[in-house]
Amino acid sequence: MKLAIPYVLAAAAVVPHGVAAWGSLGHQTTGLLAMEFLTPTTLSKVQSILGSTFSFSLGPASTWADTVRSQTAFKFTAPFHFIDAEDNPPSSCSVDLARDCGATGCVVSAIQNYTNRVQTQTDSTQIQQALLFITHFVGDIGQPLHDEAVALGGNDISAVCSGSSTNLHAAWDTGILTKNVNALYGGSAQTWADNLATRIRSGEYASQAAGWVSNINTAALSGTTVPLGWSQEANAFDCTVVFNFATGQDLCTGTYFTNAIPVIDLQIAKQGFRMATWLNTIFG
Ligand SMILES: *[C@@H]1O[C@H](CO)[C@@H](O)[C@H](O)[C@H]1NC(C)=O
Ligand SMILES: [Zn+2]
Repeated sequence: MKLAIPYVLAAAAVVPHGVAAWGSLGHQTTGLLAMEFLTPTTLSKVQSILGSTFSFSLGPASTWADTVRSQTAFKFTAPFHFIDAEDNPPSSCSVDLARDCGATGCVVSAIQNYTNRVQTQTDSTQIQQALLFITHFVGDIGQPLHDEAVALGGNDISAVCSGSSTNLHAAWDTGILTKNVNALYGGSAQTWADNLATRIRSGEYASQAAGWVSNINTAALSGTTVPLGWSQEANAFDCTVVFNFATGQDLCTGTYFTNAIPVIDLQIAKQGFRMATWLNTIFG
């Protein structure tokens, strides 16, 4: 069921959703985490494609797609940052490609398209742009509200974060994770990425990480099955955690915050690790 957008919000409705996406902190962490799991062959290819413009790193590269989406030449990429799942959280969650990926494309088809292009294009600018888009969209797809149509992915749902007015989407892109990263990792994307890498190698994620990437192989690169699965996994959190709050409840303190942090850490860890495996499969 699509939520009707009240008339007074019609102006806000033209604002594309996911404007900042995970926010640069979330995206950079995903990119920096992926850097820690690239094979030497992939690392050298990725570094040569990115060049000094992006400091030879997926960290700085991961935010480029958000900086160009408002430019005329890249307006067509705006729908690539999300998929408008027409489900009904919190009672039922689902992503259906035929139903939800519009004619102008979505994050699932965009990952497929740019995965194909990074391998087949011959122009160096096109190859670089394809890598920049993959790096960003593999991050976006892990944010539960980038896999949700309701109220423009929560952009039109008022929320409170640490006493300030915001919206649900922005609370998930930046508000909740920024507060946590400031408290635990000195506000540093690199420190957060290092922490997640340790959890993947030898901590709480060590037993699950192989399962996060078990369906990534050469054949999977040309299809939509794998990115659709990532989208469905993120979207499921809309029913269990994201939409479970009372009007006026502060999302950046108390129970909601405590429940959101493990989801955010998990989603960033998964998508960073998957990004590395995806690129290793492309360039390996
Ligand atoms: C694939 O990427 C190219 C280059 O950005 C773009 O022109 C085209 O519309 C994209 N196609 C799809 C199906 O997303
Ligand atoms: Zn984005």
